[in-house]
Amino acid sequence: MWNYYLWIPFLIAFSKELVLTKAQFPTILIPSQNPALKWSRCPAPESSLNFRPVIGILSHPGDGASGRLSNDTNASYIAASYVKFVEAAGARVIPLIYNEPSQILFDKLNLVNGVIFTGGWANSGLYFEVVEGIFKKILEKNDRGDHFPLLAICLGFELVTMIVSKDKNILESFSAKNQASTLHFGRNINIEGTMFQRFPPDLLKKLSTDCLVMQNHQYGISPETLEENENLCGFFKIITTSVDQEDKVYVSSVQANNYPVTAVQWHPEKNAFEWASPEIPHSDDAVQVTQHVANFFVSEARKSVNRPPAPIVLDNLIYNYRPTYCGKAGRGYDEVYIFT
Ligand SMILES: *[C@@H]1O[C@H](CO)[C@@H](O)[C@H](O)[C@H]1NC(C)=O
Ligand SMILES: *[C@@H]1O[C@H](CO)[C@@H](O)[C@H](O)[C@H]1NC(C)=O
Repeated sequence: MWNYYLWIPFLIAFSKELVLTKAQFPTILIPSQNPALKWSRCPAPESSLNFRPVIGILSHPGDGASGRLSNDTNASYIAASYVKFVEAAGARVIPLIYNEPSQILFDKLNLVNGVIFTGGWANSGLYFEVVEGIFKKILEKNDRGDHFPLLAICLGFELVTMIVSKDKNILESFSAKNQASTLHFGRNINIEGTMFQRFPPDLLKKLSTDCLVMQNHQYGISPETLEENENLCGFFKIITTSVDQEDKVYVSSVQANNYPVTAVQWHPEKNAFEWASPEIPHSDDAVQVTQHVANFFVSEARKSVNRPPAPIVLDNLIYNYRPTYCGKAGRGYDEVYIFT
């Protein structure tokens, strides 16, 4: 026999209050007014993921503004667009200042959950050595069981190509300066596990018909050259190719077969955050491209198990530095962080 006393409050509630309230005063209770919801708790999020990922972005020599902001020979910069790209997807940034003493630089690598190599022009000397050193550490971290992603953009793509191929002369000339382009997927390409996996199907289709990505490079690698280099084709699979202003085909996106390493010749960060060149696409579709790539990369970083002590992270975050506006002259980046 059921205990009818337990039902009394419900009977009162349903027969009188709720029914009458609904009929006479069609109000909806917000959670704080609804005693049934007042003490409810959301379930703890999936604990194997890191919901406070931090991304290291490597600085590049110069001031990013051809000396308009600083002529300090020791200066290096990070365009703020890369920082915003990371932040928009739910991560924070620690700058990896390339010419800091290498012990400090590599200690900072232990504070992050993934790395971005940016665009630029420096392809030799200390900068190349630092990129090579960090790249090796990234592979080591993954080999040791962390899931530690790298996104290499434009110059980053080129340097990683040189490093993996073990051939500093492997790059070829292409005419893709300041050009919005399409991306072409190989016929039987499997996009699972790549940055394109979560693109909505209609946006994915538009990538090959509409110029939704920004290219700005004079070097690159043809699909033939990549396939002929055993190191390269063993490490990477070609996801997309693009066509330069002289109809020459180059590799525009690659994904490593066995590492969370993604490299693109194009600039996913520019569509949403850079305005200097009128060629940069800013359409709804183009901005979605920025957002999907950022979401992919940060979701990879959330898989990293590295959880360094919070106070050291705070000391090194990019919030300890101020970006400088340099967009009025319209020649380069809109905002840069300069490290001297
Ligand atoms: C850097 O040097 C150039 C050439 O001498 C000069 O035009 C420019 O004003 C200098 N920049 C700064 C920030 O002083
Ligand atoms: C160059 O800059 C780096 C990073 O800011 C700094 O650690 C280093 O001491 C500087 N070197 C010189 C010679 O000023």
